[in-house]
Amino acid sequence: MNGRELSPETLALHADAELGDARSVAPPIFETSTFKAQSAGEFVEMATVPRHPAFYTRYNNPNHVQVVAVVAALEGAESGMLFSSGMAAISTAVLASVRAGDHVVAPRQVYPGTAHLLEDVLPRFGVEVARVERPDAAAFDAASIDRTKLYVLETPSNPLLEITDLRAVAGVARSRGIRTIVDSTLGTPINQQPLALGIDVVMHSATKYLGGHSDVIAGIVLGSRALIDSFWHTSIVLGGTSGPIEAWLILRGLRTLALRVERHNRNAQMLAEFLAQHRAVERVHYPGLQTHPQHEIARRQMRGYGGVLSFTLRGGYASAEAFMGKVKRVARAASLGGVESLAAHAASMWAGSLSEAQMSERGIDPGLVRLSVGIDAIEDVIDDVGRALG
Ligand SMILES: Cc1ncc(COP(=O)(O)O)c(C=O)c1O
Repeated sequence: MNGRELSPETLALHADAELGDARSVAPPIFETSTFKAQSAGEFVEMATVPRHPAFYTRYNNPNHVQVVAVVAALEGAESGMLFSSGMAAISTAVLASVRAGDHVVAPRQVYPGTAHLLEDVLPRFGVEVARVERPDAAAFDAASIDRTKLYVLETPSNPLLEITDLRAVAGVARSRGIRTIVDSTLGTPINQQPLALGIDVVMHSATKYLGGHSDVIAGIVLGSRALIDSFWHTSIVLGGTSGPIEAWLILRGLRTLALRVERHNRNAQMLAEFLAQHRAVERVHYPGLQTHPQHEIARRQMRGYGGVLSFTLRGGYASAEAFMGKVKRVARAASLGGVESLAAHAASMWAGSLSEAQMSERGIDPGLVRLSVGIDAIEDVIDDVGRALG
């Protein structure tokens, strides 16, 4: 199926049509660790064909193949691999891309799990990581050296919604022969397609919008067949494979991705505008606002601005805690990208893993609240948030 000619709504329903079971409308779940060969010859084939879809589930599984077919079609990717979490996906892709002595460049602002990978794990294996304060092409260029092999990007970033100009950074990377990996979790394949802008590898925490219902943890990596094949050996060693049921849940979520994202985009834009004029709020971070420092880049490279925003309350930590104590319909919960609205006080959420100094270095203000705006009627979310702001 030529994925690029169909709309995302159609691809989400049909890109895996030739896979799965011919008779069942909803796909069966291949809840099996291993698969039977019909002959000795077939066993040899199953064991030796890389990423065989039905040999041993740590290697691949028919439910993984269906998810990958759909997300690859949405991203315009040749191939992909499903993982047990977003962190398994990005760790595997990064570890498969570097070796001792290599140099990596990444922005200061990335999801804290990715920051730990860059700051704590890679240096232990002799990989040096440089961080840029602003994720623009000139900063990446200036931070690159002969040994630079990889740029790790995240746009929009979590939790400050920083935007990276993917075309510009990919241009610098290509001219220097550097691989690029972008975490596009907050962007979703509906709002942006990094591969079309010259990025080599796109990654998602499928836990978020792809699954969309806060009931599953998974991750996915997509790119050219050659690159994804080259990640496979690291993947089966690290073993961060997705369970078949989790894959099935992601596929079910994907069917409605386009519809959900359309509503998330609209709701978050309305809430951001409401917060931007509220006197209890010092600053709103949302790429759909004209006041966002990279709004023009976002407008160029995104079709919608996504369902996540964050805002800093006047009065710092105490005000954020008070806000969190008063929300009713918006749940106090980590994570994002589900159908329901969730609020998280950043300084509390990451208190266990980041010191105050690390938070301030990353621009995480004590009064910062992140909101994942669901598909609720936005008037009801605004009522709840407005009441909690007092
Ligand atoms: C932007 C981003 N990347 C990666 C992850 C990690 O994903 P997971 O929790 O599925 O491992 C998260 C989780 O919050 C995230 O927000």
